[in-house]
Amino acid sequence: MKPEGLTLWLTGLSGAGKTTISRILEREISGRGLRVERLDGDMIRSHLSKDLGFTKEDRFTQIERVTYVAKLLTRHGVIVIVSLISPYREMRNYPRQHIPPFVEIYVHCPLEECIRRDVKGLYNRALKGEIHRFTGIHDPYEPPDNPDFTVYTKEETPEQSAERILHFLETRLKI
Ligand code: PPS
Ligand code: MG
Repeated sequence: MKPEGLTLWLTGLSGAGKTTISRILEREISGRGLRVERLDGDMIRSHLSKDLGFTKEDRFTQIERVTYVAKLLTRHGVIVIVSLISPYREMRNYPRQHIPPFVEIYVHCPLEECIRRDVKGLYNRALKGEIHRFTGIHDPYEPPDNPDFTVYTKEETPEQSAERILHFLETRLKI
């Protein structure tokens, strides 16, 4: 891989595997001697976006903030791995327009499988009405029409998904 900046934007439902895959990618990319930074939805919300909830407006503000940070890092040669639900198609156009180069990766997993996994118990709470505006339950998730790459986490392990993403970056994007 060449040492040039890039933002990998992982979008997908809660529990689809965005964070797990991004951690593996971070380890692998950094193991190749490249500079890498991870910007994760939960992480950003406990620091930079403590004030935000999950209205459509707040989710867009979250994307604007993350885009700003990712843009600065990318400009300085860092490989940035963003893992945000980023549920609205129109909102994902925003980082695409602001960050060159930008790669959208769809972390595909059927809603029923995310509910079955329910890693953090959030779907259960959302279904009981204890959490509002939960993506996939009360709020929409609009899958990308034309993502640069898709991984299918119901069918493949996180290691396999990460491996396929790395292979895509190396062979198709020549980085
Ligand atoms: S967004 O839609 O892009 O602004 O979401 P993001 O910043 O990635 O934050 C998603 C994480 O917040 C937790 N959480 C919720 N997600 C969706 N809807 C609701 N209502 C909600 N409430 C809390 C949850 O841990 C998400 O993390 P992931 O890793 O996606 O499961
Ligand atoms: Mg996560």
